[in-house]
Amino acid sequence: MAPLLELPYDIQNVTPEEDKIIKKCLIGYTKPFVKCGKAGYVLPGSFKKQAEAIYNVQVRPDDIWVITYPRSGTTWTQEMVWLLENDMDFDSAKRSPLFERFPMLELTTQIPEVAFELIKINFMNLAHFQGLNQAVKCPSWKSLEDAPSPRLIKTHLPLSLLPPNLLNTAKVIYVARDPRDCMVSVYYLYKMVTRSLMRGTFAQFWEAFRRDLLPWMPIVSHANEAWEQRGHPNLHFMFYEDMLKDLPKMIRGVSAFLNRDYTDEQINKLAEHLTFSNLKKNKNVNNTAGDSEVQFIRKGEAGGWRTHFDAKMELQAEEYLNDRLRGLTLRYPTFEHDEEWSRL
Ligand code: A3P
Repeated sequence: MAPLLELPYDIQNVTPEEDKIIKKCLIGYTKPFVKCGKAGYVLPGSFKKQAEAIYNVQVRPDDIWVITYPRSGTTWTQEMVWLLENDMDFDSAKRSPLFERFPMLELTTQIPEVAFELIKINFMNLAHFQGLNQAVKCPSWKSLEDAPSPRLIKTHLPLSLLPPNLLNTAKVIYVARDPRDCMVSVYYLYKMVTRSLMRGTFAQFWEAFRRDLLPWMPIVSHANEAWEQRGHPNLHFMFYEDMLKDLPKMIRGVSAFLNRDYTDEQINKLAEHLTFSNLKKNKNVNNTAGDSEVQFIRKGEAGGWRTHFDAKMELQAEEYLNDRLRGLTLRYPTFEHDEEWSRL
């Protein structure tokens, strides 16, 4: 076995003030949240103990990794990649949940300490959501280490927190989405998961978001790390909004990246399987916690943030994006970046 690599980044607790802001939105976490590396990626305190094991996961040449900031179209892309990699076997796809066919690397590290115990004693019906039950029994990264090849792996961790040989070894697909829509979608996701226990308001989530204080943030650095590698032959970079615009074209791009050869008819059939309404109906993909009104596959639009942000938030969002994008070449197709601002 290769010796364990030391983490090249540090992990610090967030300040008590920051921890309060985060915990107004997220419940069940007892340890302080942490920030990782120079960019300060926010993660639950329990990430700290598992960070080294995750950084040392053995990457295999036939792995395919899908990396995103949450709510960027991960599930949509995973179902696409699974079918492209499995000869468009729609019947098998319908027989088992996507979270089993395409597991998430760091899932265990995200489970709130309180929920961890409750799931263990079978108290919360969250157990069937996204494989949390299994992730409580065995660390998610460990299950992946033991999984047979070829593996399909989902993660929300940015490249800098992942094994350093990832890009030179395996194929990676990165999907980015307008951060404002991600924010709205993240809010509804927490609402779905925590239901009546949720205390955080939309305004509190927005406050945490614009201060880069939700798990896996800062979102722009996250996307930019992949954007900077977009010329790498093992990295395929996509925007959610482009998938909305022309799904068959985006499927063809992923298929070529994976060296798969499909006819137009097959691509169109896959595009049909992947439409918003079909995925919403598909229980193995739309894995919603319990009987919540809000579903995992929710609206599927670009620009939905407009109906959620008031004038002040809209301005703050503009400032936030102009500021975070300053000095970068990354541009979101749905955000008109103020170039003047970037020269300030
Ligand atoms: P909304 O909450 O804005 O609707 P992830 O899988 O990364 O968590 O992303 C979830 C987001 O992708 C949700 O966004 C969900 O509705 C959207 N989504 C999932 N499948 C989709 C599809 N086929 N078409 C459009 N959007 C889709």
